Amino acid sequence: MAAWSEQLRRERVTIGFVPTMGALHDGHRSLIRAARLRCDALVVSIFVNPTQFGPAEDLAKYPRPITQDRALCREEGVDVCFEPTPASMYPEGFQTIVTVPEIAQRWEGEARPHHFAGVATVVTKLFGIVQPQLALFGQKDYQQAALVKRLVADLNFGVTIDVRPTIREQDGLAMSSRNRYLSPENRQAATILYRALLAGRLAIRKGARKVPAVERIMQQTVGQEPAARIEYLTLCDPASLKPLANVAGRTLLLGAIRIGTVRLIDNMLVKR
Ligand code: PAJ
Repeated sequence: MAAWSEQLRRERVTIGFVPTMGALHDGHRSLIRAARLRCDALVVSIFVNPTQFGPAEDLAKYPRPITQDRALCREEGVDVCFEPTPASMYPEGFQTIVTVPEIAQRWEGEARPHHFAGVATVVTKLFGIVQPQLALFGQKDYQQAALVKRLVADLNFGVTIDVRPTIREQDGLAMSSRNRYLSPENRQAATILYRALLAGRLAIRKGARKVPAVERIMQQTVGQEPAARIEYLTLCDPASLKPLANVAGRTLLLGAIRIGTVRLIDNMLVKR
C-alpha cells in the first residue's frame, strides 16, 4: 500500500481516502462518492481496529461481510481496498499510542475510555501508510471527526479533512453497522434518538435559550420509549465539545442511548 502511494505521489496523482471498519452501508457509500469526485486515486481501508474496542465490546462479533464490501467498493469506482491484518498493524513490540486528551475526555470518551486513543492511533497509522491529500469522515461520529481534525492540525499531517452529513434511514435512524444487531421491535424503538434531537432543535427554533430546558425536552422524548436508556443527551459547543451554558449561535445536540445491548449515537448541529 505504502509503495503504491509513494509511486502515485511521485506522479503527482492526488490520493483520496475513506477509512472504515467495513460492513459498508449507504453512509460509507456517500463518503466514497464524495471522495470519488475529488481525487484521482481513491483508497478505502477496511480494518476492524482492535485497539478502539473496549474489553466488553463487540470486537469479535463485529460484522465482516468482506465480499459485499469489496463489491460496493467496485461499484463506486474505488481504486484500492486496503485490508491490513491486525498482526501487520500491531506487530510484536508495537507501543506508540496517540492521544487527543481534551476532545477524548467527554461523551463517547467517558463511556469508552480507550476508544479515542485507539482511533487516533489507527488513523495516524493509516494516514502514514496511505499518504492521502484528502480524507473523508462522517458527521455521524461527530466527536471522532473533531478529534481527527485536531490530530491532523496538531501533528502537521497535511491531509485535508472533509466531514460529510449523516445518512439516515427513511425513519431518521442514522445508518450504522451496529443497527443490524437490533431486533425488529428495538429497530422501531431506535428512532427515538433522532426524534429527541428533532425535539431539541424545535425547542431552540421556537426560542428556548436555557440548556437544561432543551435537555429536558430531549430526555422526555427518549423517556416515551420504554426500551431506551439514555447514556447522555446534551448541548455542547460544536468546536470544543464542551458543555454550553446557554444556547449559542451554533449548538451541537449530541446523544447516546442504549436499546437492549445496542449502543446508538447521533447528533445534530443547530444554527440559531
Ligand atoms: P466506521 O464506523 O466504519 O465508519 C467509517 C466512516 O463512515 C466514519 O467516518 C463514519 O463517521 C462514517 N459513517 C458511519 N455511518 C455514517 C452515516 N450514517 N452517515 C455518514 N457517515 C457515516 O469510524 C470508523 O469506522 C472507525 O473509527 C475508523 C475511523 C475507520 C478508525 O478505525
